[in-house]
Amino acid sequence: MINYNDLLEKAKEVSKSAYCPYSKFAVGACVLYESGNFYIGCNVENSSYGLSLCAERNAFSTAIANGEKTSPVAIAIVSPNKKLCQPCGACRQWLCEFQKRDCDIDVILEDENGQPKVFKSSELLPHGFDLIK
Ligand code: THU
Repeated sequence: MINYNDLLEKAKEVSKSAYCPYSKFAVGACVLYESGNFYIGCNVENSSYGLSLCAERNAFSTAIANGEKTSPVAIAIVSPNKKLCQPCGACRQWLCEFQKRDCDIDVILEDENGQPKVFKSSELLPHGFDLIK
């Protein structure tokens, strides 16, 4: 049983570390794996704006760098600046990369009342690009 509130809290906490001097829009993400391990990430901007890294991709990259071998089951995404902070198109394609065949990742956002609202990764990006599945 996934504790959505716990994942949202972890995402909220890491959003405080966001490096976002240009947009001032902080984002935090926490991705949970089948192993029970979780990894956090925040957005990291660059003065060459297009090089900025989203929180979600930072969290997935951290998982890979830490040797995570299982599949992600859920990711929480939070911004203190915006309720229901949806992942951008590029991050949806990253979700598609890591979601197992026929096995969606729960994408957990925070609604207007601070409650978890859950979407499925396939719902956010149907027919994503895929070479290996
Ligand atoms: N951002 C994320 O971290 N994740 C998303 O899915 C959308 C956007 C960041 C990128 C940039 O640093 C800031 O939010 C404003 O676009």
